[in-house]
Amino acid sequence: PPLEKFVDPLPRPMTAIPDRSVYPGADYYEITMRQGSWRFHRDLGPSPVWGYWATNPHDPHKPIGMGYLGPTISTTHDHPTVVKWRNELPTTHMFQFVIDKIRSGDPQLAPIAPPPYKSKPPFPSNINVWNVVHQHGGYTAPQSDGMPLQSFSPDGFHAESYSTLDPSRVKPNEAIYAYTNHDRSCMLWYHDHGMGMTSLNVYAGLAGLYLIRDPADERLGLPRGEFEVPLILQDRTFHRDGSLAYTMTQREGEDTPVVNGKAYPFLAVEPRRYRLRILNASNERFWRLRFDVPRDVLPEPQLPFWLIGTDSGFRTPLQMLEFLISPAERYDLIVDFSRMPMGTNVTLTNYPGTQVHFPGIPGCGPEIAEIMQFQVTKPLSGDGDNTTRPKKLKLPVVAPIKPKPHTRRREWVVYQHKLFSTMTFNAVPFMEPSQDFIKAGSTEIWEYINPNHDAHPMHVHLVDFQVLNRQPIDAARYQSDYDKWVYGDRKPKDRPLLANYLTGPPIPPTPDEAGSRKDTVKANAEMVTRIIIQEFTPPTETIASIPGSGAELPATYIHHCHILEHEDDDLMRPWTIVGHGD
Ligand code: C2O
Ligand code: CU
Repeated sequence: PPLEKFVDPLPRPMTAIPDRSVYPGADYYEITMRQGSWRFHRDLGPSPVWGYWATNPHDPHKPIGMGYLGPTISTTHDHPTVVKWRNELPTTHMFQFVIDKIRSGDPQLAPIAPPPYKSKPPFPSNINVWNVVHQHGGYTAPQSDGMPLQSFSPDGFHAESYSTLDPSRVKPNEAIYAYTNHDRSCMLWYHDHGMGMTSLNVYAGLAGLYLIRDPADERLGLPRGEFEVPLILQDRTFHRDGSLAYTMTQREGEDTPVVNGKAYPFLAVEPRRYRLRILNASNERFWRLRFDVPRDVLPEPQLPFWLIGTDSGFRTPLQMLEFLISPAERYDLIVDFSRMPMGTNVTLTNYPGTQVHFPGIPGCGPEIAEIMQFQVTKPLSGDGDNTTRPKKLKLPVVAPIKPKPHTRRREWVVYQHKLFSTMTFNAVPFMEPSQDFIKAGSTEIWEYINPNHDAHPMHVHLVDFQVLNRQPIDAARYQSDYDKWVYGDRKPKDRPLLANYLTGPPIPPTPDEAGSRKDTVKANAEMVTRIIIQEFTPPTETIASIPGSGAELPATYIHHCHILEHEDDDLMRPWTIVGHGD
């Protein structure tokens, strides 16, 4: 029988408690990855899950976590954080059968491409579990960034670029990372980035929120405390016993929406404004979201809301009725329930898309319609709602990044090999050394050329950017000419020239993208998507007096598709910031 909807209350992720005595001037945490047990729904049995647990500095017997996902790390702008990440997961994977199939060369799972078309896992075949934690969207030095080749296993094996700060304080299954928190006030997140198995590790539960707050935000008049609600959106399928089924291979159950770890939850709300901070932490699903209200409540069937921020912080408030959120994107909303009579149910809905603006969006279909419900059942507390009306909000927004005529352009082709199913950028596998050298301090325009029939969410580590525009291309001709080039002698001068394949004028960014700072962008199907990245400058300062915590040049980072199965399948490349002498 289908799961009953809106019977489980929405869980709120707990907040980790810092220890300020370990590294003077920094908040210190110890966070452990562990296997636990979690019920995704009242009527589902408990499932083994993976999650993060924060050590409780006040009571070592009460670690902070819930089993699935991880506690929120809440930080203050410019005040650094140091985290010791510890790997206590089992040495057999929760989805071991997937790993075994990849190893045995199952063509359905393992792209059949031989090297050099496909990167191979950097661990010996008797190691089945490895992990590393990436703070998504953060301004972080490479040695603390948590990139795939920094993975380490529960039994203490290290991938080639494993790194830790303060090595005298770590065991082989640990790594200490430091975060500058120089980012603007925003909602980042942290998640697993294990080489070649990020999709499996995040699916098992390895993700959590990372908030950066600015004390000045308290004067903005935004809903706070219990009226500020993070929503971590995912989709999961379950075996009959309630345990997680890995979607890509075991379609036993229905695709089910899971918010903060519960299927179809509800949240009892007061008739007032709420701030909803939405993260799409799904492996591959794009959600097209709106707030549906019963017919007799409003003249229109949807509740309008205000967008006040995106991935990298505040923007000018924009009233909207719906939006499309791809994996890893964040949308910061003000939703006003004050016009709703007591007893009204407002349903967060994933409605079928028009397919016009975003053709070929994976997982956006109508098979999940309703996600969760806001039930206006609580009387207005305190002295009512004294938050600022969204239209009147004076938010600290940053000036737009302006391209100059000489701004360097860099092309990244989303390339699906003709003979192998593997996806790469520019037909170069992830394991090939960096070929892209960027002068420190420079601004660049990156062009994601996507001749596929699907959209891909592209994420660049370290930097924030703005969406410039998109432009349609003759995808079939581009793909076939690129195939010829890849399977020919790959002379740089013979590479297909983008300008020869454009089929229409540039399309400006969507209203929610315009004026937003982002770290993840939808690279639409059969288009080039252009972003402008203001400044490639890594943080060089020493954090919390820890030697080696600042970045040094050259500094190598990565960018990749945030459909996790695609990033594991090699749609990921390193790039390097170099000094002026390099
Ligand atoms: Cu959210 Cu490299 O990832
Ligand atoms: Cu992709």
